[in-house]
Amino acid sequence: MTTGLKTTAISDSKLLFEKSKSGKEGIFLPSRKFQDDFSRLIPADFQRKDHGDLPEITEPELVRHFVNLSKKNFSVDTHFYPLGSCTMKYNPKIHEDVASLDGFAWLNPSQTEDQVQGILQIFHELSRALCELTGMDEFTLQPAAGAHGELCGMMLTRAYHHSRGEGKRHQVLVPDSSHGTNPASAAQYGYEVVQIPSDARGRVDLKALEDAMSDRVACLMLTNPNTLGLFENDILKIREIVHRKGALLYYDGANLNALLGAVRPGDMGFDIVHLNLHKTFTTPHGGGGPGAGPVGVKKILAPFLPAPLVVKQGSRYGFDYHRPKSIGKVRSFFGNAGILLRAYVYIRMLGLEGLKRVSHDAVLSANYLRKKLSTAFLNPHNEFCMHEFVLSASNLESQNIHAGDIGKRLLDYGIHAPTVHFPLVVKEALMIEPTETESKETLDAFVEVMLKILKEAQETPELVRKAPHTMPIGRPDEVQAARKPILSFRDLKRDTQASPL
Ligand SMILES: Cc1ncc(COP(=O)(O)O)c(C=O)c1O
Repeated sequence: MTTGLKTTAISDSKLLFEKSKSGKEGIFLPSRKFQDDFSRLIPADFQRKDHGDLPEITEPELVRHFVNLSKKNFSVDTHFYPLGSCTMKYNPKIHEDVASLDGFAWLNPSQTEDQVQGILQIFHELSRALCELTGMDEFTLQPAAGAHGELCGMMLTRAYHHSRGEGKRHQVLVPDSSHGTNPASAAQYGYEVVQIPSDARGRVDLKALEDAMSDRVACLMLTNPNTLGLFENDILKIREIVHRKGALLYYDGANLNALLGAVRPGDMGFDIVHLNLHKTFTTPHGGGGPGAGPVGVKKILAPFLPAPLVVKQGSRYGFDYHRPKSIGKVRSFFGNAGILLRAYVYIRMLGLEGLKRVSHDAVLSANYLRKKLSTAFLNPHNEFCMHEFVLSASNLESQNIHAGDIGKRLLDYGIHAPTVHFPLVVKEALMIEPTETESKETLDAFVEVMLKILKEAQETPELVRKAPHTMPIGRPDEVQAARKPILSFRDLKRDTQASPL
Protein backbone atom coordinates (compact mmCIF):
# COMPACT_ATOMS: atom_id res chain seq x y z
CA MET A 1 0.00 0.00 0.00
CA THR A 2 2.77 2.38 0.99
CA THR A 3 4.66 1.50 -2.16
CA GLY A 4 1.52 2.14 -4.19
CA LEU A 5 1.16 5.57 -2.68
CA LYS A 6 4.80 6.33 -3.33
CA THR A 7 4.50 5.23 -6.95
CA THR A 8 1.55 7.56 -7.40
CA ALA A 9 3.52 10.40 -5.90
CA ILE A 10 6.43 9.73 -8.26
CA SER A 11 4.30 9.63 -11.37
CA ASP A 12 2.15 12.54 -10.27
CA SER A 13 5.01 14.89 -9.64
CA LYS A 14 6.23 15.05 -13.25
CA LEU A 15 4.72 16.10 -16.51
CA LEU A 16 4.81 13.71 -19.43
CA PHE A 17 7.62 15.56 -21.23
CA GLU A 18 9.70 15.66 -18.06
CA LYS A 19 9.51 11.88 -17.91
CA SER A 20 10.76 11.61 -21.46
CA LYS A 21 14.21 10.10 -21.97
CA SER A 22 15.92 9.69 -25.30
CA GLY A 23 15.72 6.13 -26.64
CA LYS A 24 12.69 4.97 -24.63
CA GLU A 25 9.94 3.46 -26.72
CA GLY A 26 6.29 2.81 -25.99
CA ILE A 27 5.05 1.96 -29.45
CA PHE A 28 6.41 -0.28 -32.17
CA LEU A 29 5.46 0.54 -35.72
CA PRO A 30 5.87 -2.09 -38.44
CA SER A 31 8.70 0.08 -39.65
CA ARG A 32 9.79 -0.34 -43.29
CA LYS A 33 6.59 -1.52 -44.91
CA PHE A 34 4.50 0.93 -42.96
CA GLN A 35 6.72 3.85 -43.94
CA ASP A 36 6.81 2.80 -47.59
CA ASP A 37 3.02 2.53 -47.77
CA PHE A 38 2.56 5.94 -46.24
CA SER A 39 5.25 7.55 -48.35
CA ARG A 40 3.27 6.50 -51.38
CA LEU A 41 -0.06 7.77 -50.01
CA ILE A 42 1.01 11.13 -48.59
CA PRO A 43 2.25 13.81 -51.01
CA ALA A 44 5.92 14.68 -50.44
CA ASP A 45 5.09 18.25 -49.32
CA PHE A 46 3.04 16.93 -46.45
CA GLN A 47 5.53 14.37 -45.24
CA ARG A 48 7.34 15.20 -42.02
CA LYS A 49 11.09 15.73 -42.48
CA ASP A 50 12.08 15.96 -38.81
CA HIS A 51 11.17 13.92 -35.76
CA GLY A 52 8.14 15.38 -34.02
CA ASP A 53 8.77 16.86 -30.60
CA LEU A 54 7.11 13.93 -28.85
CA PRO A 55 7.91 12.47 -25.44
CA GLU A 56 9.93 9.25 -25.46
CA ILE A 57 8.47 7.04 -22.80
CA THR A 58 7.62 3.41 -22.10
CA GLU A 59 4.11 2.07 -22.36
CA PRO A 60 3.63 1.40 -18.58
CA GLU A 61 4.85 4.92 -17.75
CA LEU A 62 2.47 6.38 -20.28
CA VAL A 63 -0.50 4.33 -19.05
CA ARG A 64 0.22 5.22 -15.43
CA HIS A 65 0.59 8.88 -16.32
CA PHE A 66 -2.83 9.12 -17.94
CA VAL A 67 -4.65 6.81 -15.54
CA ASN A 68 -3.36 8.87 -12.62
CA LEU A 69 -4.35 12.08 -14.34
CA SER A 70 -7.85 10.70 -15.00
CA LYS A 71 -8.20 9.84 -11.32
CA LYS A 72 -7.77 13.51 -10.43
CA ASN A 73 -10.86 14.40 -12.41
CA PHE A 74 -14.32 14.86 -11.03
CA SER A 75 -16.89 13.30 -13.33
CA VAL A 76 -20.44 12.00 -13.19
CA ASP A 77 -19.02 8.49 -13.40
CA THR A 78 -16.99 8.98 -10.24
CA HIS A 79 -18.76 11.59 -8.09
CA PHE A 80 -22.10 13.23 -7.32
CA TYR A 81 -22.20 16.30 -9.55
CA PRO A 82 -25.07 18.68 -8.64
CA LEU A 83 -23.99 21.48 -11.00
CA GLY A 84 -27.12 23.62 -11.41
CA SER A 85 -28.26 24.61 -14.90
CA CYS A 86 -25.56 22.42 -16.47
CA THR A 87 -27.59 19.22 -15.94
CA MET A 88 -24.64 16.89 -15.50
CA LYS A 89 -26.61 13.74 -16.21
CA TYR A 90 -25.31 10.24 -16.02
CA ASN A 91 -24.45 9.05 -19.55
CA PRO A 92 -25.79 5.49 -19.98
CA LYS A 93 -23.03 3.20 -21.23
CA ILE A 94 -25.24 1.67 -23.89
CA HIS A 95 -24.66 4.90 -25.85
CA GLU A 96 -21.00 4.06 -26.11
CA ASP A 97 -21.74 0.47 -27.19
CA VAL A 98 -23.93 1.69 -30.03
CA ALA A 99 -21.62 4.53 -31.08
CA SER A 100 -18.67 2.14 -31.27
CA LEU A 101 -20.39 -0.27 -33.66
CA ASP A 102 -18.27 -0.40 -36.83
CA GLY A 103 -21.08 0.92 -39.01
CA PHE A 104 -21.18 4.14 -36.98
CA ALA A 105 -17.59 4.46 -35.81
CA TRP A 106 -16.16 4.30 -39.35
CA LEU A 107 -18.62 6.67 -40.99
CA ASN A 108 -17.12 9.50 -42.95
CA PRO A 109 -19.11 12.65 -43.70
CA SER A 110 -17.81 12.66 -47.29
CA GLN A 111 -19.57 9.39 -48.12
CA THR A 112 -22.42 9.47 -50.59
CA GLU A 113 -26.06 9.50 -49.50
CA ASP A 114 -26.45 5.93 -50.74
CA GLN A 115 -23.71 4.72 -48.43
CA VAL A 116 -25.05 6.41 -45.28
CA GLN A 117 -28.77 5.67 -45.35
CA GLY A 118 -28.64 4.35 -41.77
CA ILE A 119 -27.30 7.50 -40.12
CA LEU A 120 -29.54 9.66 -42.32
CA GLN A 121 -32.54 7.70 -41.06
CA ILE A 122 -31.34 8.35 -37.50
CA PHE A 123 -30.92 12.10 -38.17
CA HIS A 124 -34.40 12.20 -39.65
CA GLU A 125 -36.05 10.25 -36.86
CA LEU A 126 -34.18 12.27 -34.21
CA SER A 127 -35.44 15.52 -35.78
CA ARG A 128 -39.01 14.17 -35.77
CA ALA A 129 -38.69 13.03 -32.13
CA LEU A 130 -37.37 16.46 -31.08
CA CYS A 131 -40.27 18.12 -32.93
CA GLU A 132 -42.70 15.91 -31.07
CA LEU A 133 -41.10 16.54 -27.68
CA THR A 134 -40.93 20.31 -28.12
CA GLY A 135 -44.00 21.06 -30.26
CA MET A 136 -41.90 22.57 -33.05
CA ASP A 137 -42.28 21.87 -36.78
CA GLU A 138 -38.71 21.49 -38.04
CA PHE A 139 -35.23 21.00 -36.57
CA THR A 140 -31.65 21.54 -37.69
CA LEU A 141 -29.11 19.27 -36.03
CA GLN A 142 -26.09 21.32 -37.08
CA PRO A 143 -25.24 23.57 -34.08
CA ALA A 144 -22.48 22.15 -31.90
CA ALA A 145 -23.58 23.45 -28.46
CA GLY A 146 -26.33 25.35 -26.69
CA ALA A 147 -24.59 28.69 -27.19
CA HIS A 148 -24.03 27.86 -30.85
CA GLY A 149 -27.76 27.08 -31.10
CA GLU A 150 -28.47 30.52 -29.63
CA LEU A 151 -26.31 32.18 -32.27
CA CYS A 152 -28.11 30.19 -34.95
CA GLY A 153 -31.40 31.31 -33.39
CA MET A 154 -30.32 34.95 -33.61
CA MET A 155 -29.47 34.46 -37.30
CA LEU A 156 -32.90 32.94 -37.90
CA THR A 157 -34.56 35.81 -36.04
CA ARG A 158 -32.85 38.40 -38.19
CA ALA A 159 -33.54 36.51 -41.43
CA TYR A 160 -37.22 36.26 -40.51
CA HIS A 161 -37.64 39.96 -39.71
CA HIS A 162 -35.67 40.99 -42.80
CA SER A 163 -37.91 38.85 -45.01
CA ARG A 164 -40.87 40.84 -43.69
CA GLY A 165 -39.20 44.20 -44.27
CA GLU A 166 -38.71 44.67 -40.53
CA GLY A 167 -34.94 44.88 -40.43
CA LYS A 168 -35.17 47.82 -38.02
CA ARG A 169 -35.75 45.41 -35.12
CA HIS A 170 -32.36 45.59 -33.44
CA GLN A 171 -33.05 44.78 -29.78
CA VAL A 172 -33.10 41.44 -27.97
CA LEU A 173 -34.67 41.25 -24.51
CA VAL A 174 -33.19 38.93 -21.86
CA PRO A 175 -34.33 38.51 -18.24
CA ASP A 176 -31.74 39.33 -15.57
CA SER A 177 -31.78 35.68 -14.45
CA SER A 178 -30.72 34.47 -17.90
CA HIS A 179 -27.59 32.47 -18.62
CA GLY A 180 -24.64 34.59 -19.76
CA THR A 181 -24.61 32.98 -23.18
CA ASN A 182 -28.03 34.55 -24.00
CA PRO A 183 -26.92 38.19 -24.00
CA ALA A 184 -23.53 37.14 -25.38
CA SER A 185 -25.08 35.38 -28.41
CA ALA A 186 -27.40 38.31 -29.11
CA ALA A 187 -24.59 40.86 -28.79
CA GLN A 188 -22.24 38.70 -30.89
CA TYR A 189 -24.74 38.86 -33.72
CA GLY A 190 -25.00 42.63 -33.44
CA TYR A 191 -28.18 42.99 -31.41
CA GLU A 192 -28.57 45.53 -28.64
CA VAL A 193 -29.30 43.61 -25.43
CA VAL A 194 -32.00 44.96 -23.11
CA GLN A 195 -32.25 43.41 -19.67
CA ILE A 196 -35.65 42.72 -18.11
CA PRO A 197 -35.72 42.59 -14.30
CA SER A 198 -37.22 39.72 -12.33
CA ASP A 199 -40.07 40.47 -9.94
CA ALA A 200 -40.19 39.51 -6.24
CA ARG A 201 -41.36 36.01 -7.24
CA GLY A 202 -38.21 35.44 -9.31
CA ARG A 203 -40.18 35.54 -12.57
CA VAL A 204 -40.11 37.98 -15.48
CA ASP A 205 -41.54 41.33 -14.35
CA LEU A 206 -44.50 41.65 -16.71
CA LYS A 207 -44.81 45.40 -16.32
CA ALA A 208 -41.12 45.88 -17.18
CA LEU A 209 -41.56 43.58 -20.16
CA GLU A 210 -44.57 45.56 -21.42
CA ASP A 211 -42.60 48.79 -21.04
CA ALA A 212 -39.61 47.41 -22.97
CA MET A 213 -41.67 46.03 -25.87
CA SER A 214 -41.72 48.06 -29.06
CA ASP A 215 -41.40 47.58 -32.79
CA ARG A 216 -37.61 47.74 -32.32
CA VAL A 217 -37.60 44.41 -30.45
CA ALA A 218 -36.61 41.33 -32.45
CA CYS A 219 -37.19 38.70 -29.75
CA LEU A 220 -37.31 37.80 -26.09
CA MET A 221 -34.92 35.01 -25.05
CA LEU A 222 -36.38 33.05 -22.19
CA THR A 223 -35.46 29.95 -20.19
CA ASN A 224 -38.41 28.07 -18.74
CA PRO A 225 -38.10 26.88 -16.02
CA ASN A 226 -35.78 29.80 -15.43
CA THR A 227 -32.35 29.55 -13.86
CA LEU A 228 -33.88 29.84 -10.38
CA GLY A 229 -35.59 26.54 -11.14
CA LEU A 230 -38.98 28.29 -11.20
CA PHE A 231 -41.61 27.79 -13.86
CA GLU A 232 -42.52 31.04 -15.61
CA ASN A 233 -46.23 30.51 -15.02
CA ASP A 234 -47.17 33.73 -16.80
CA ILE A 235 -45.77 32.33 -20.00
CA LEU A 236 -49.01 32.71 -21.96
CA LYS A 237 -49.23 36.39 -20.98
CA ILE A 238 -45.56 36.79 -21.92
CA ARG A 239 -46.27 35.22 -25.30
CA GLU A 240 -49.15 37.61 -25.83
CA ILE A 241 -47.05 40.67 -24.94
CA VAL A 242 -44.19 39.63 -27.23
CA HIS A 243 -46.24 38.49 -30.22
CA ARG A 244 -48.60 41.47 -30.08
CA LYS A 245 -45.62 43.68 -30.99
CA GLY A 246 -44.51 41.37 -33.81
CA ALA A 247 -41.44 40.02 -31.97
CA LEU A 248 -40.42 36.36 -31.64
CA LEU A 249 -40.18 34.23 -28.53
CA TYR A 250 -36.91 32.29 -28.20
CA TYR A 251 -36.66 29.29 -25.88
CA ASP A 252 -33.35 28.47 -24.22
CA GLY A 253 -33.89 24.74 -23.77
CA ALA A 254 -31.10 24.16 -21.26
CA ASN A 255 -33.71 23.38 -18.61
CA LEU A 256 -35.95 21.09 -20.65
CA ASN A 257 -35.02 18.25 -18.30
CA ALA A 258 -37.81 19.50 -16.04
CA LEU A 259 -40.57 19.33 -18.64
CA LEU A 260 -40.18 16.24 -20.83
CA GLY A 261 -43.54 14.83 -21.79
CA ALA A 262 -45.33 17.28 -19.50
CA VAL A 263 -45.47 20.54 -21.43
CA ARG A 264 -43.92 21.64 -24.73
CA PRO A 265 -42.23 24.96 -25.54
CA GLY A 266 -44.08 25.01 -28.86
CA ASP A 267 -47.41 24.89 -27.02
CA MET A 268 -46.28 27.67 -24.67
CA GLY A 269 -45.87 29.89 -27.73
CA PHE A 270 -42.14 29.74 -28.42
CA ASP A 271 -41.12 30.22 -32.05
CA ILE A 272 -37.49 29.04 -31.84
CA VAL A 273 -35.90 26.62 -29.39
CA HIS A 274 -32.44 25.27 -28.87
CA LEU A 275 -31.83 22.05 -26.98
CA ASN A 276 -28.60 21.07 -25.27
CA LEU A 277 -28.39 17.35 -26.05
CA HIS A 278 -25.55 17.04 -23.54
CA LYS A 279 -27.93 18.15 -20.80
CA THR A 280 -31.40 16.69 -21.32
CA PHE A 281 -30.46 13.83 -23.61
CA THR A 282 -27.39 12.49 -21.76
CA THR A 283 -24.69 12.94 -24.36
CA PRO A 284 -21.21 13.62 -22.95
CA HIS A 285 -20.48 17.23 -22.01
CA GLY A 286 -16.89 17.18 -23.19
CA GLY A 287 -14.62 20.10 -22.38
CA GLY A 288 -16.51 22.60 -24.51
CA GLY A 289 -17.35 20.08 -27.19
CA PRO A 290 -18.07 18.18 -29.26
CA GLY A 291 -21.67 18.69 -28.25
CA ALA A 292 -24.91 19.33 -30.01
CA GLY A 293 -27.40 22.17 -29.75
CA PRO A 294 -30.15 21.41 -32.31
CA VAL A 295 -32.48 24.28 -33.11
CA GLY A 296 -36.20 23.82 -33.72
CA VAL A 297 -38.59 26.31 -35.26
CA LYS A 298 -42.23 26.86 -36.06
CA LYS A 299 -43.30 26.61 -39.72
CA ILE A 300 -42.95 30.36 -40.33
CA LEU A 301 -39.22 30.12 -39.67
CA ALA A 302 -38.50 26.78 -41.35
CA PRO A 303 -37.42 28.26 -44.73
CA PHE A 304 -34.51 30.02 -42.99
CA LEU A 305 -33.01 26.95 -41.29
CA PRO A 306 -29.41 26.05 -42.16
CA ALA A 307 -28.97 23.86 -45.23
CA PRO A 308 -29.05 20.97 -45.75
CA LEU A 309 -31.96 19.35 -43.92
CA VAL A 310 -32.36 15.58 -43.96
CA VAL A 311 -35.54 14.62 -45.80
CA LYS A 312 -37.34 11.35 -46.51
CA GLN A 313 -38.48 10.64 -50.07
CA GLY A 314 -40.38 7.37 -50.25
CA SER A 315 -38.21 4.93 -48.36
CA ARG A 316 -34.94 6.84 -49.04
CA TYR A 317 -33.26 9.54 -46.98
CA GLY A 318 -31.31 12.39 -48.48
CA PHE A 319 -30.09 15.94 -48.03
CA ASP A 320 -32.20 18.89 -49.11
CA TYR A 321 -29.78 21.62 -50.19
CA HIS A 322 -32.34 23.56 -52.17
CA ARG A 323 -33.26 26.09 -49.52
CA PRO A 324 -33.06 29.54 -51.13
CA LYS A 325 -33.94 31.45 -47.94
CA SER A 326 -31.57 29.47 -45.71
CA ILE A 327 -29.16 31.34 -43.42
CA GLY A 328 -26.50 28.97 -44.83
CA LYS A 329 -24.43 26.46 -42.94
CA VAL A 330 -23.57 27.00 -39.28
CA ARG A 331 -21.24 24.03 -39.00
CA SER A 332 -19.16 21.81 -41.23
CA PHE A 333 -21.02 18.81 -42.63
CA PHE A 334 -24.22 17.92 -40.75
CA GLY A 335 -23.46 18.25 -37.04
CA ASN A 336 -21.76 15.99 -34.51
CA ALA A 337 -23.07 12.64 -35.75
CA GLY A 338 -21.77 10.58 -32.81
CA ILE A 339 -23.43 12.88 -30.29
CA LEU A 340 -26.72 12.98 -32.20
CA LEU A 341 -26.65 9.20 -32.32
CA ARG A 342 -26.28 8.92 -28.54
CA ALA A 343 -29.27 11.23 -27.96
CA TYR A 344 -31.29 9.14 -30.41
CA VAL A 345 -30.45 5.96 -28.48
CA TYR A 346 -31.55 7.63 -25.22
CA ILE A 347 -34.88 8.75 -26.67
CA ARG A 348 -35.60 5.38 -28.31
CA MET A 349 -34.55 3.50 -25.20
CA LEU A 350 -36.86 5.41 -22.85
CA GLY A 351 -39.80 6.30 -25.08
CA LEU A 352 -42.24 9.01 -24.08
CA GLU A 353 -43.25 7.32 -20.82
CA GLY A 354 -39.62 6.88 -19.79
CA LEU A 355 -38.81 10.51 -20.62
CA LYS A 356 -41.79 11.70 -18.57
CA ARG A 357 -40.44 9.69 -15.66
CA VAL A 358 -37.01 11.34 -16.12
CA SER A 359 -38.46 14.81 -15.60
CA HIS A 360 -40.74 13.65 -12.81
CA ASP A 361 -37.81 12.15 -10.90
CA ALA A 362 -35.53 15.14 -11.58
CA VAL A 363 -38.16 17.46 -10.07
CA LEU A 364 -38.76 15.11 -7.16
CA SER A 365 -35.04 14.90 -6.31
CA ALA A 366 -34.65 18.69 -6.47
CA ASN A 367 -37.62 19.29 -4.17
CA TYR A 368 -36.38 16.65 -1.74
CA LEU A 369 -33.05 18.46 -1.41
CA ARG A 370 -34.71 21.88 -1.33
CA LYS A 371 -36.90 20.85 1.60
CA LYS A 372 -33.95 19.38 3.50
CA LEU A 373 -31.59 22.33 2.95
CA SER A 374 -33.78 25.42 2.90
CA THR A 375 -34.01 25.69 6.69
CA ALA A 376 -30.24 25.64 7.28
CA PHE A 377 -29.34 27.83 4.28
CA LEU A 378 -31.25 30.85 3.01
CA ASN A 379 -33.61 30.29 0.11
CA PRO A 380 -34.98 33.57 -1.27
CA HIS A 381 -37.53 31.72 -3.45
CA ASN A 382 -38.51 28.83 -1.26
CA GLU A 383 -41.43 27.35 -3.17
CA PHE A 384 -42.07 24.23 -5.24
CA CYS A 385 -39.18 24.13 -7.69
CA MET A 386 -38.62 22.31 -10.95
CA HIS A 387 -35.39 20.39 -11.60
CA GLU A 388 -33.10 22.75 -9.63
CA PHE A 389 -33.19 25.37 -6.89
CA VAL A 390 -30.99 28.19 -5.67
CA LEU A 391 -29.83 28.67 -2.09
CA SER A 392 -27.98 31.68 -0.79
CA ALA A 393 -24.89 31.51 1.41
CA SER A 394 -25.18 35.20 2.30
CA ASN A 395 -25.86 34.30 5.96
CA LEU A 396 -22.17 33.30 6.15
CA GLU A 397 -20.81 36.64 4.99
CA SER A 398 -20.10 37.67 8.59
CA GLN A 399 -17.63 34.72 8.75
CA ASN A 400 -16.15 35.96 5.46
CA ILE A 401 -17.30 32.74 3.79
CA HIS A 402 -18.71 32.83 0.29
CA ALA A 403 -20.64 30.45 -1.93
CA GLY A 404 -17.43 29.51 -3.75
CA ASP A 405 -15.80 28.45 -0.45
CA ILE A 406 -18.63 26.00 0.17
CA GLY A 407 -18.17 24.65 -3.35
CA LYS A 408 -14.44 24.17 -2.68
CA ARG A 409 -15.05 22.44 0.65
CA LEU A 410 -17.51 20.03 -0.99
CA LEU A 411 -14.61 18.76 -3.13
CA ASP A 412 -12.88 17.55 0.04
CA TYR A 413 -15.95 15.42 0.71
CA GLY A 414 -15.92 13.92 -2.79
CA ILE A 415 -18.79 15.98 -4.18
CA HIS A 416 -18.57 18.32 -7.15
CA ALA A 417 -19.49 21.92 -6.36
CA PRO A 418 -22.94 23.21 -7.30
CA THR A 419 -22.98 26.18 -9.66
CA VAL A 420 -21.91 29.16 -7.53
CA HIS A 421 -22.48 32.91 -7.84
CA PHE A 422 -25.05 32.31 -10.60
CA PRO A 423 -27.77 33.31 -11.29
CA LEU A 424 -26.69 36.85 -10.54
CA VAL A 425 -30.11 37.78 -9.11
CA VAL A 426 -29.31 35.78 -5.94
CA LYS A 427 -26.51 36.98 -3.69
CA GLU A 428 -23.99 34.23 -2.90
CA ALA A 429 -25.94 31.78 -5.03
CA LEU A 430 -25.56 28.00 -4.70
CA MET A 431 -27.50 26.50 -7.57
CA ILE A 432 -28.21 22.82 -7.01
CA GLU A 433 -29.42 20.32 -9.60
CA PRO A 434 -29.31 16.68 -8.51
CA THR A 435 -30.84 15.16 -11.72
CA GLU A 436 -33.02 12.07 -11.80
CA THR A 437 -30.53 9.25 -11.49
CA GLU A 438 -29.23 9.81 -7.95
CA SER A 439 -30.34 7.45 -5.18
CA LYS A 440 -31.97 8.67 -1.97
CA GLU A 441 -28.79 7.56 -0.14
CA THR A 442 -26.66 9.90 -2.30
CA LEU A 443 -29.07 12.79 -1.78
CA ASP A 444 -29.08 12.19 1.99
CA ALA A 445 -25.30 12.00 2.06
CA PHE A 446 -25.14 15.34 0.23
CA VAL A 447 -27.49 16.95 2.78
CA GLU A 448 -25.35 15.60 5.60
CA VAL A 449 -22.18 17.04 4.07
CA MET A 450 -23.80 20.43 3.42
CA LEU A 451 -24.91 20.64 7.07
CA LYS A 452 -21.47 19.58 8.21
CA ILE A 453 -19.86 22.34 6.13
CA LEU A 454 -22.32 24.85 7.58
CA LYS A 455 -21.21 23.79 11.06
CA GLU A 456 -17.56 24.07 10.06
CA ALA A 457 -18.25 27.54 8.67
CA GLN A 458 -19.51 28.61 12.06
CA GLU A 459 -16.98 26.81 14.25
CA THR A 460 -13.78 26.55 12.18
CA PRO A 461 -14.28 29.02 9.30
CA GLU A 462 -10.63 28.84 8.24
CA LEU A 463 -11.15 25.22 7.24
CA VAL A 464 -13.83 26.24 4.75
CA ARG A 465 -12.13 29.46 3.63
CA LYS A 466 -8.92 27.62 2.70
CA ALA A 467 -10.55 24.53 1.14
CA PRO A 468 -9.94 22.29 -0.69
CA HIS A 469 -7.33 20.51 1.39
CA THR A 470 -7.23 17.23 -0.48
CA MET A 471 -7.13 18.23 -4.13
CA PRO A 472 -4.00 18.38 -6.31
CA ILE A 473 -4.90 21.95 -7.22
CA GLY A 474 -6.57 24.21 -4.69
CA ARG A 475 -7.47 27.67 -5.84
CA PRO A 476 -6.06 28.54 -9.24
CA ASP A 477 -6.25 32.11 -10.44
CA GLU A 478 -9.49 31.62 -12.37
CA VAL A 479 -9.15 34.83 -14.40
CA GLN A 480 -5.65 33.92 -15.56
CA ALA A 481 -6.72 30.32 -16.13
CA ALA A 482 -9.44 31.53 -18.50
CA ARG A 483 -7.52 34.34 -20.19
CA LYS A 484 -4.11 32.71 -20.35
CA PRO A 485 -4.62 28.98 -20.23
CA ILE A 486 -1.53 26.80 -20.16
CA LEU A 487 -2.54 23.85 -22.23
CA SER A 488 0.72 22.31 -23.27
CA PHE A 489 4.18 21.61 -21.98
CA ARG A 490 5.58 24.14 -24.45
CA ASP A 491 3.36 26.90 -22.99
CA LEU A 492 4.59 25.97 -19.55
CA LYS A 493 8.21 26.16 -20.63
CA ARG A 494 7.52 29.59 -22.10
CA ASP A 495 5.92 30.85 -18.92
CA THR A 496 7.89 29.31 -16.09
CA GLN A 497 6.09 31.47 -13.54
CA ALA A 498 2.80 29.79 -14.20
CA SER A 499 1.66 26.48 -12.86
CA PRO A 500 -0.08 23.94 -15.08
CA LEU A 501 -3.76 23.33 -14.64
C1 LIG B 1 -29.58 28.18 -19.15
C2 LIG B 1 -28.42 27.90 -20.08
N1 LIG B 1 -28.43 28.43 -21.32
C3 LIG B 1 -27.42 28.19 -22.19
C4 LIG B 1 -26.34 27.43 -21.84
C5 LIG B 1 -25.22 27.25 -22.85
O1 LIG B 1 -25.17 25.95 -23.29
P1 LIG B 1 -23.83 25.27 -23.84
O2 LIG B 1 -22.93 25.07 -22.66
O3 LIG B 1 -24.31 23.99 -24.44
O4 LIG B 1 -23.24 26.18 -24.85
C6 LIG B 1 -26.27 26.87 -20.55
C7 LIG B 1 -25.10 26.07 -20.15
O5 LIG B 1 -24.92 25.66 -19.04
C8 LIG B 1 -27.34 27.10 -19.65
O6 LIG B 1 -27.33 26.58 -18.43
